[in-house]
Amino acid sequence: MSPFLLTRTMPADATDAALRADVLHGLTRNPKTLPPKWFYDAHGSDLFEEITRLPEYYPTRAEREILLARAPDIAAASGARTLVELGSGSSEKTRYLLDALPALDSYVPVDVSESALRGAAEALLAQRPELSVHALIADFTHGLALPGTPGPRLVAFLGGTVGNLLPDERAVFLKSVRSLLSPGDTLLLGTDLVKDEETLVAAYDDSAGVTAAFNKNVLTVVDRELGADFDPADFDHVALWDPRHEWIEMRLRARRALTVKIPELDLVVPFTAGEELRTEVSAKFRKDGIETELGAAGLRLTQWWTDSADRFALSLATVV
Ligand code: SAH
Ligand code: AVI
Repeated sequence: MSPFLLTRTMPADATDAALRADVLHGLTRNPKTLPPKWFYDAHGSDLFEEITRLPEYYPTRAEREILLARAPDIAAASGARTLVELGSGSSEKTRYLLDALPALDSYVPVDVSESALRGAAEALLAQRPELSVHALIADFTHGLALPGTPGPRLVAFLGGTVGNLLPDERAVFLKSVRSLLSPGDTLLLGTDLVKDEETLVAAYDDSAGVTAAFNKNVLTVVDRELGADFDPADFDHVALWDPRHEWIEMRLRARRALTVKIPELDLVVPFTAGEELRTEVSAKFRKDGIETELGAAGLRLTQWWTDSADRFALSLATVV
């Protein structure tokens, strides 16, 4: 069996410092915010997997449909010997790409969630023992450096996770991805598409309450890591469509006036009754916008595929 390498480019103390900085910054501003990457401790990663199986959460099924149909085209266009996957999570849909790339040498999953990376690598190596899996515990928005595996590289960023970055963060991120690519390398980008409000809101406010639990999990992370005394029961899950920005916002709304102590930061955070903390944006896209954003980063859209109900798109891009 090939070795499974797990490289921690984000040491635990860097993670700790980043969480402290994000919580201090986010909870002392108005309106309050927290970045979505802190959802994904082991429990949050499990909850996300549960979300992908919900009847209301269509993006995973829609993207799987496209991958199933287009994996051979993606493989042929990329000729990849290394597949890099950003925010790889369970790598569940990645199998369609791996199956279409029998000569692949290396798979490089990149994620902040160590539990997700370990679970994914174990499952993949059981199926493809000859594959060299070099997993990176890393924040893909901060100075990502890739191992020297053979090219060409296919960099996949699936699930619509690019929509969890704000527009200015996205512009910086896409330029950094461009800087990782050499001529002949390819980017495969999954994006959820603009659609009717009812479908969108239901996907982020499911009837079983799994998304609500996922949203509140960020409070549990802050409690555990920074000694805070958030009680998730004091907050309601809110999902709303912002038509101006064309994104879904997830928020946590205080059910009453309360204060939260965060001893590790020497901070007391007051919430008024009904005050909302924004925990995630999930932008929805149109083809023109994607083409423009890729172009601004020095990338050329070469293929655009959607599922049969036009809910989700996969784009293939090359360096300009
Ligand atoms: N690609 C998978 C998982 C999507 S969930 C799918 O399509 O189903 C989003 C994943 O991105 C999670 O596993 C989360 O841990 C990871 N993630 C979120 N923000 C990140 C960041 N800044 N850097 C690295 N990984 C991140
Ligand atoms: C990972 N990301 C693309 C998901 C999304 O749809 O924005 C995260 C999520 N948030 C709530 N449900 C799922």
